[in-house]
Parts: sequence; structure tokens; C-alpha cells
Amino acid sequence: MTSNPFITMQEIKKSFNGVPVLKGVTLQVEQGEIHALLGENGAGKSTLMNILGGVHQPDSGAIYINGEEVKMLNPRVSQEHGISFIHQELNMVSDLRVYENMFLGSELRNKFGFLKVEEMCRQTHEILSKLGVDIDPKEYVRNLATSYKQLIEISKALLHKSRLIIMDEPTTSLAEHEVNRLFGLMKNLKNSGVSIIYISHKLKEIKEVCDGYTVLRDGELVRTGSMEHEDIETITKTMVGKAISQERFLHEHPFGPVVLDVNGLTSNAFKDINFAVRKGEIVGFTGLAGDGRTELFESLFGYRKKYTGEVKINGQVVKIDHPRKALKAGMGLVPRDRKENAIIKDLSVLHNMSLSSMGNFEKGGFIQDKEERTKFQFYKEALNIKVHNPRIAIDKLSGGNQQKVIIAKWLEAETELLIFDNPTQGIDVGAKQEIYQQIVELAKLGKAVIILSSEAPEVMRICHNINVMFHGEITARFTADEANEEEIMNYATGSKREVAQIG
Ligand SMILES: Nc1ncnc2c1ncn2[C@@H]1O[C@H](COP(=O)(O)OP(=O)(O)OP(=O)(O)O)[C@@H](O)[C@H]1O
Ligand SMILES: [Mg+2]
Repeated sequence: MTSNPFITMQEIKKSFNGVPVLKGVTLQVEQGEIHALLGENGAGKSTLMNILGGVHQPDSGAIYINGEEVKMLNPRVSQEHGISFIHQELNMVSDLRVYENMFLGSELRNKFGFLKVEEMCRQTHEILSKLGVDIDPKEYVRNLATSYKQLIEISKALLHKSRLIIMDEPTTSLAEHEVNRLFGLMKNLKNSGVSIIYISHKLKEIKEVCDGYTVLRDGELVRTGSMEHEDIETITKTMVGKAISQERFLHEHPFGPVVLDVNGLTSNAFKDINFAVRKGEIVGFTGLAGDGRTELFESLFGYRKKYTGEVKINGQVVKIDHPRKALKAGMGLVPRDRKENAIIKDLSVLHNMSLSSMGNFEKGGFIQDKEERTKFQFYKEALNIKVHNPRIAIDKLSGGNQQKVIIAKWLEAETELLIFDNPTQGIDVGAKQEIYQQIVELAKLGKAVIILSSEAPEVMRICHNINVMFHGEITARFTADEANEEEIMNYATGSKREVAQIG
């Protein structure tokens, strides 16, 4: 691609427990280039970056910086070569404060060895405000929302004077305005000669900020080139090996009786919410950051207690003030940011999948091994989960494949009503389809389904009815046929609202 690249990774090979994950991958990035690294879940993107970041050692191959061979023996050596790494897994220490996390391992001290707390706070504040984040540097990280943790992770990389920044899915938890600020910063960095390797499954983002790209498939390089001459469809096809259509998955069938009926729900985050979901129906909620959607469903599920209004399940008024009660009433919630909220890291893939639906597998006090494995096999194929041995700890799976396991566990749960918050976060374009397909199957079986998503096209593809929220209110409601992206955006941004109160 170029004769004088800043970074060259040459013929990199890597196996885990005898399974080849990278089969001789070459990657070149120029100085001041934003380079997209693309591929399906489990293609080897994070592994390749972990090698560049000194987290893993390659089995063979070489790394060159400005033409000179370097050995990235550990993360410190990689950092000394000017490489910063924003990990897919958030690496924050919850019990430390924001500034302590920012300077972890590179604390500022005065000549007597005392920590320069105020100076570290000042620098933390300065960097965070570049990203438009207004949080107290002395706040404990455990008190922050996931999107803030992601922004701190990004800021931490910016703190060091880097020559190359690796960004492994930096925007999974970010709202659109936060993404835009990040892109602004990336462009500034690029103009000052910093190179960036950018991993994301959001192909629109890729097209917007990246100069060059490399696609991996099953640990092999399949295509590399300049973004300018490439369209998203071609890249997608190279990634998944087939064309991906943007067709709707909507399935028309008669609905059953109302399962969930919400009347006049009001709190400090949302106002006078009315809606109903019937058996077999898929209802979507979309909007921008701060629309109150997540708070609404956290209230319905018993995570938040301070609200007024009436909730009926199967015609009975219920007062749900604890998630346990929600589960008992037949509701399930697949949370967003699942890596933080839903995955038990040390547990095997198999057990992570069967955890919530233990009732399905437990007979006479012990887990039915065979049934568990049969179910697992089914979802492994249905969702294309890449795992060689389901007994390994779930954190050995690629980020997207961990997500799929958690989705599978809820698809298996015997709840009448299922709420998916951001169902395809971190999932590649091909696997998205497979998840939609499974959600549609649930509705066909008569389950009531709610989809929360910030991406309008996502709710448009699978929902029978779509609610748009703005500032805590439902501002519009569309049937699948009426909905179009532009109208949804008009209501989501508050530039339009339906006159009559929706009820
Ligand atoms: N420490 C490990 N031990 C065993 N297998 C591993 C380990 N790390 C990664 N793998 C395996 O290597 C393969 C590639 O994983 P990798 O995390 O690089 O994928 P990815 O392209 O980043 O995917 P995603 O888009 O889902 O993040 C996967 O099959 C994964 O299970
Ligand atoms: Mg990854």
C-alpha cells in the first residue's frame, strides 16, 4: 500500500492452545493516518492489537516502526515506543478516583516523592473537557456511567504523547454527540502526525473518519486499501464473505392479549408514559442520549423505585420495586453494556449461558450437562458463536462473541416479556442479522418483546411498532410501515412533536 509506513506488522502468526487465531497477518499504517481494522466477531482484530500493544507475544512475524524492527515485549515497552492502547474491555479500577485511574502507573510526584494531586486533577480536567466531559476528577469511577468510563479510557490514552493510538471499539457506549467530539479530536491528532488504528463494527463511523482499511477474516488478511475508493457494501461483503441485505425482518402475525400495560408513568427522568405490548408483538423505543429510555425501563424492571403511574402485567396491577420481582412477574431485561452488567468473567461460556435459565437445565438438584450442551450447540450455530471449547472462561472469547453468549442466555429464558437494551452492541454486521432472526422467532412463539436502541434503522428492521422519545416523553409513534429514518430523527431531536397526547 505504501513504501514508507510508520508501522508494519509483518506476517504475524498467533495460536492459543494450538488453535491458530492469526495466520500470517500483515498490517501497514502510515504516519498521520487513521486506519480501520475490520472483521467479524472473532476474526482476530483485538489479538493483533494486543500483539502491537505488547499484551501478547506473536508466535512468529515481525513489527517495524519507521522501518526499524522492534520487539514489543510487554505493554511498557510498547508505550515507550509511543503506542497507546484504548482497550475494548474497560480497564478502570472502580475503587480509585478518576484522576488516579488516569495516572495509574505514571503518577506525577514532586521532588520529595509526594503525589502532585492537584496537578493530576488539573490535567485530567483539561483532557476530559476536550471531550466535553464535565465530571469531578476526584469522583470514584464506580459511581460513573459506562459511557464516562469509556471516555476516561480514551482520555487516558491521550494523556501520553503518543505516536500511534489503538482504539478498539471506543464508541460502543457513547452517545452521538460524544462520538462527534471524539472524531474531532481524532482529526486534530491526525493533523499533528499521530496515527490511529480504529476498530469498530459501526461502518458508518469507519467511512466517516478512516483513511485506509484492512479487513481480517478468520485470522487472515483478505483486503486492504484506501477508504476513499471503497463503499460500505463491498467492505461488508469482504468481511462476512457474502452480501448483507438491509431487508426488514419484520414478521406479520396476529397478536395475542396485552402482556404489559403502562399508564401515566412519571419520574424525574420521564413523563406521562403510556404504551402497551401484546403477545407476539415487537415494540421499539428509540431516541438520542438523554431521552429517558433507559431510565424508563430500569424503573419498569425495579432498578429504580421513584416513579408514579400504573403498570399492569396480564391485566394485574403490579408494583415492581426489585428486579427479582420483575423476573417473577415474567419480565426479562438484557442490559446494555453487557460486559459490565451481565458477564461473569471467571465462569465458563457454558455456565454464563445457562445461568439465568437454570430452571431449564436443573433437575434433581444438579445441572443437566447434556441438555445444557445441546442447547449451547443450538445457539452456537444459530448465532455463529466462535468458540472451540465451551468450558473455557468466557473472557477468552472475543468481545462480540461474549455478547452473543449473553443474548443466547436470554433467548433461552422462559419469560413472557423480554426487553433488549442495545441488542447488537459490539456485534458484527453479519451476526446482527442472526440475532434479529432469533428475536423474531421469539415473537412468533408468542413472546412480547421490547427493543431499546439508539439506532433508528435497527428498530425499523424488526419492530411492529416504534416509539420515539425526546426529553423523557414519547413524542411519536409509528407502525413499521409508516416509519422512516428522517421522520424518526425529527421527533428524536425535538424539532417535531405530535400534537395530540399519545395514549
Ligand atoms: N487469551 C485467549 N485464549 C484463548 N483464545 C483466545 C484468547 N484471546 C483471543 N482468543 C480467541 O481468538 C479469536 C480472535 O479473538 P479476537 O478477540 O482477536 O477477535 P476480534 O476480531 O477482536 O472480535 P470482536 O469483534 O468480537 O471483538 C477468538 O476465537 C478468541 O476466542
Ligand atoms: Mg475485539
